[in-house]
Amino acid sequence: MRNIRRIAVILVVVGLIATAFSTAAQGGGEGLTIGFSQIGSESAWRTSFTDAVKAEAEARGINLLFSDAQQEQENQIAAINAWIAQGDVDAIILAPVVTSGWDVVLQEAKDAGIPVVIVDRNVDADPSLYVTRVSSDFVHEGRLAAAWLVQATSGNCNIVELYGTVGSAAAEDRATGFREVIALFPGMQIIRSETGNFVRTEGKQVMESFLSAEDPANICAVFAHNDDMAIGAIEAIKEAGLVPAQDILIVSVDAIPDIFDSLDAGETNATVELSPFMGAPAFDAVVATLAGEELPKWIPVAGSLYTSRAAYDADHQ
Ligand code: AHR
Repeated sequence: MRNIRRIAVILVVVGLIATAFSTAAQGGGEGLTIGFSQIGSESAWRTSFTDAVKAEAEARGINLLFSDAQQEQENQIAAINAWIAQGDVDAIILAPVVTSGWDVVLQEAKDAGIPVVIVDRNVDADPSLYVTRVSSDFVHEGRLAAAWLVQATSGNCNIVELYGTVGSAAAEDRATGFREVIALFPGMQIIRSETGNFVRTEGKQVMESFLSAEDPANICAVFAHNDDMAIGAIEAIKEAGLVPAQDILIVSVDAIPDIFDSLDAGETNATVELSPFMGAPAFDAVVATLAGEELPKWIPVAGSLYTSRAAYDADHQ
């Protein structure tokens, strides 16, 4: 009875947070030159996000200078320094690979009068150094995944965690939110956790190591910090002679097209949506700040948990 009450409270809280978020694109920005420092192409979600930002820039007549950092913070800092030195950008959009280590370069951009909008992941920097950040609530995503798993297992489950990039807001915050919820249920515990860096092949390798280190019958579920690693885990589970989504439950984050194929095939259980369409609100923020408007320090992007393609389609008509 106490468990049921706890689940009800969690679901009400996460439901309220989910419905509180909304963003509507304003448009504008024609003729602007904007530098976009992207993390890399580690996941299908990242590629969709890049494509969506480029398409939005083209639709608005924005000259987008795209820089792929290939997962290295130093490449992102070098790109920003080059844009500052060349003085050829009106603004910078930064998707930071990790949270720490940004104060110096953000201060340099500010001193040069170039506004910076943070997208996707968060930075641990003085908020006066950037205009705003356009991002989802990763803590909430972790809570949603955990709440679903609590419901599916009646609060009893040994979980293995496929961690994202260590030091990234996406991984650290999802881990925090997930742990907050399962801490309410003594029967839920994380028995193994290791990074797969948000990469499909690494997710598979880490899952293989979990399956050989543990008695597979002792693993109730996988919490993968993204869908790509979940898909890697599905392959590992099948190759171990087990049935994914039945013998071992799987919940992940992103809602990429491939994960809906897995849901259709009954090989995974749930995914939390991370919208790749952050380009529009980020460009809106650039336009607004260049027009002298004050913006909130966080422009949240909504996302819900889905257990079927039909439910996702119904929400995205
Ligand atoms: O920062 C968002 C995360 O980064 C996505 O969940 C993951 O797929 C990507 O690599």
